[in-house]
Amino acid sequence: MNVRKAVFPVAGLGTRFLPATKAQPKEMLPVVDKPLIQYAVEEAYAAGVREMIFVTGRHKRPIEDHFDMTFELEVALEQSGKNDLLDIVRSVKPDDMECVYVRQAQALGLGHAVLCAERLIGNEPFAVLLADDLMVGAPPVLAQMVEQHAEWRASILAVQEVPADQTRRYGIVDGQRVGERLMDVSRIVEKPAPEAAPSRWGVAGRYILTPGVFHEIAHQPRGVGGEIQLTDGIAALLRREKVFAYRYQGRRYDCGSKEGFLQANVELALAHGTLGAGFRAYLKSLEL
Ligand code: G1P
Repeated sequence: MNVRKAVFPVAGLGTRFLPATKAQPKEMLPVVDKPLIQYAVEEAYAAGVREMIFVTGRHKRPIEDHFDMTFELEVALEQSGKNDLLDIVRSVKPDDMECVYVRQAQALGLGHAVLCAERLIGNEPFAVLLADDLMVGAPPVLAQMVEQHAEWRASILAVQEVPADQTRRYGIVDGQRVGERLMDVSRIVEKPAPEAAPSRWGVAGRYILTPGVFHEIAHQPRGVGGEIQLTDGIAALLRREKVFAYRYQGRRYDCGSKEGFLQANVELALAHGTLGAGFRAYLKSLEL
């Protein structure tokens, strides 16, 4: 079956980005002119996903508003003939895209967040996208993964090589190389110390998972940081099913960190159709 549904866990507190996230969801922080969550949703849409499931929480209303119709704004833009802006506003939620919201009452971890979407997913493969990992790829990273999933009919995890001293930030996989970009995963560990890391292949925030993972997550005790970890659910899943790690083509910006967020803003501004040239000239004028 094709990947029709995607889960966006957006209930996190965003403590790494305080004070910006004190009264606003981290997923609504803009990179150039779009909030982070919109990049992730557009990536899913480009991969053929049409049902977006947001696992949300208290103080996350701006995300729901963003993907809703903004009636007064649309009427005002229409009346003043600002059709370009009207198109931008309307393109946030194409007509054939559905948005569904489910609450995660307690922040018990990423695995728990994914489990909150179980009834909305049912018995089919689905994607998980972590919006603070902004991915830039051509084709988009999730579309690359959907292609792999179509071929292998198994769970696919996006991975990249990470510096040896940063294994504590990622789920780390190990296994058998089965192609230039693909690994048949035999092991996955959440945030190991460098000396305990089985490899340097770190999981980026993109997953395609088979529905069997729900049963596994539901039976996981709390893991690293006292949280119910998605990684532990996947570790249990791979004892029953094949799981592949896919080394994606593209660039990841860790927008959960201030450095990554700034890098994304600078690089995406430089690549921006109308802002790019002027911004490049401005940066040059700084004579750093
Ligand atoms: C989560 C996952 C981790 C993964 C990472 C990618 O961690 O638990 O396995 O490598 O996302 O960004 P977090 O960054 O939410 O702590």
